[in-house]
Amino acid sequence: ESIKVFAPATVANVACGYDVLGFALEGIGDELIITKTESPGLTITDIHGSNHLSKKPEENVITVAAQALIDSLTKKPDFGLQFELTKKVQPGSGLGSSASSSAAAVFGVNQILGEPFSTTELVRFAMEGEKLASGVPHADNVAPSLLGGFVLIRSYNPLDVIPLQFPDELCATVVHPQIEVKTSDAKKMLRQQIELRDAIVQWGNVAGLVSGLAQGDYGLIGRSLQDVIAEPIRGILIPGFAEAKQKSKEAGALGASISGSGPSIFALSQGMKNAQQVAEAFRKLFEDIGLESYVHVSPI
Ligand code: HSE
Repeated sequence: ESIKVFAPATVANVACGYDVLGFALEGIGDELIITKTESPGLTITDIHGSNHLSKKPEENVITVAAQALIDSLTKKPDFGLQFELTKKVQPGSGLGSSASSSAAAVFGVNQILGEPFSTTELVRFAMEGEKLASGVPHADNVAPSLLGGFVLIRSYNPLDVIPLQFPDELCATVVHPQIEVKTSDAKKMLRQQIELRDAIVQWGNVAGLVSGLAQGDYGLIGRSLQDVIAEPIRGILIPGFAEAKQKSKEAGALGASISGSGPSIFALSQGMKNAQQVAEAFRKLFEDIGLESYVHVSPI
């Protein structure tokens, strides 16, 4: 018996929502084939699309996340599971690569076990994969990868995951300039203390963004896509970042910022036509800079 699972790539933070906001992309994500085996235990047989990832069960996010799920069952399965992973989301891209693998693993294992957990309950198991990958069990990639759409992590302790309403025409453009930034490094760069005046700007924008999404107020969404905490520090690592923000606005985007911990950049737009124009602007910019880039456009 074997099943094939797909889990989408994601954009975390969404400018103002460091570790608390994320959304799922369409048409890009990791694929996982999970096969039941007679002998118990978890094994990884193949990893396609990336050379650097370990197949050792304690060193790969898929088996770590799957094991977290199995550990929380009172009745353990009397069979084993074999995983074959196809990576379409590049590690270190800022598009939730590890999250996409972790989400696929827990979703698929839950299916094979007859769904002992709801999809929302799976988030905390997938977070164990994130802990392995980045040192911090953040949920702003795994939650949208599992649930789809726009998601808020209202609280981590206790975990409170809230799917958000958002308008139909909202689309995303992402560009991945072909360099790698490790989330663990990009997390260590940030200061542990922030100024009250920065916090005021940030929580005003988080509330504005959530409210703009709920009301379908594109102007408010655009005004709220600001980050005064992580972006000023992490933006320095991304060649062409300031220009990319500027060009995306000129091409009709509502706003843009770093996708997750970078180096990918995302922009939100009203409608696919605008999102395509932004994609063109991103392509051209990175061509001019002389940096290879991957561009993807998606409805949310
Ligand atoms: N919220 C996480 C961070 C996302 O910014 O470090 C990583 O993709």
